[in-house]
Amino acid sequence: MKKIKLSVIPGDGVGKEIMPHAVRVMDTVAEIHGGLSFDKVTYPWSCEYYLEHGKMMPEDGLDQLKDSDAVFLGAVGNPQLVPDHVTLWELLIKIRREFEQTLNIRHAKQIQGIQSPITNPNNFDIIVVRENSEGEYSEIGGTMHKGPDEIAVQNAVFTRKASETAMRYAFELAKTRKNHVTSATKSNGIVYSMPFWDRVFNDVAKDYPEIETASNHIDALAAYFITRPSSFDVVVASNLFGDILTDISAAIMGSIGIAPSVNLNVNGKYPSMFEPVHGSAPDIYGKGIANPIGQIWTGKMLLDHFGEHEMADLLMKSIEAVIAEGIKTPDLGGSASTEEVADAIVAQLRRSN
Ligand code: NAI
Ligand code: MG
Repeated sequence: MKKIKLSVIPGDGVGKEIMPHAVRVMDTVAEIHGGLSFDKVTYPWSCEYYLEHGKMMPEDGLDQLKDSDAVFLGAVGNPQLVPDHVTLWELLIKIRREFEQTLNIRHAKQIQGIQSPITNPNNFDIIVVRENSEGEYSEIGGTMHKGPDEIAVQNAVFTRKASETAMRYAFELAKTRKNHVTSATKSNGIVYSMPFWDRVFNDVAKDYPEIETASNHIDALAAYFITRPSSFDVVVASNLFGDILTDISAAIMGSIGIAPSVNLNVNGKYPSMFEPVHGSAPDIYGKGIANPIGQIWTGKMLLDHFGEHEMADLLMKSIEAVIAEGIKTPDLGGSASTEEVADAIVAQLRRSN
């Protein structure tokens, strides 16, 4: 029996509503597999936990998570109870930084039965590999001269090691897909870091002669994500460029409620964290209508991560079949509840097995 130790953090808002259903779907996958099980420990860390304990997680919170194989997170944030920067820095960013989750991977594809806001989706299927530890989001810089002469300096930091890690991951991933990697650059305008990024990309590409490559300036690339998204396979980007591209790739799918992601630890020292792209959606919380697909698709990425590709494909096909049948939450124009969508996915999994 292959056991995957999962730390489950439902979090706040719709995270709490969705997580039990997503866990139910994962358990169904394990049952169908027959030789797989999820050993789960659920943690109540959230804004409500903060009100009671004065912190988002206990002092030894990271130690508690450290020995699990993966963290499965819903969403955190309830700005009426706790300021967002506290929620973010004391839980999410803490886990991402301390567990050296240096890559953020987001998958986006056109799904039949979901209206894309663009006119030419043409079955796009894109994975963006975003460097998640440095780049433009560095803590090096400062401000001086308060008042009318005030200045601010923010330094971007690019290391060969982190850039190369993101790029190698992208190339390896492309081997399992359509053998194409696009690099997001801006070496025409940013004269040190981006030519460096291009050089590292060209060096890494030499090790993958079978993979086709392209290099696009970020402004043009952002436009291409809208005008011809189907021409991309794997895209590798710096922290800021990846952040922007993944909001576009989620948007062209038709709802943020379905977009999955993983914060990846590549050195194997700590668990990776799997979480949907969306937040706690306070505007729809409590109505039972949050779309569970972002969380469930995130579970599909988790299965892939642990080499369970057959189960991952079965889960993805089940999600797609349920959407095609029209069993959709209101964000996708349907009238189904969170529970009905999850029930339908469970039933579809059992049928298609
Ligand atoms: P949000 O993603 O929670 O909501 C944006 C819009 O998308 C809302 O209209 C919401 O109803 C809709 N939406 C989100 N998830 C949905 C789902 N599963 N099904 C259907 N519709 C869905 O972003 P917002 O409103 O900016 O943030 C709300 C809270 O969530 C804040 O406290 C924020 O800090 C937090 N947040 C947490 C994230 C995380 O845990 N990784 C990520 C983004 C925001
Ligand atoms: Mg963003």
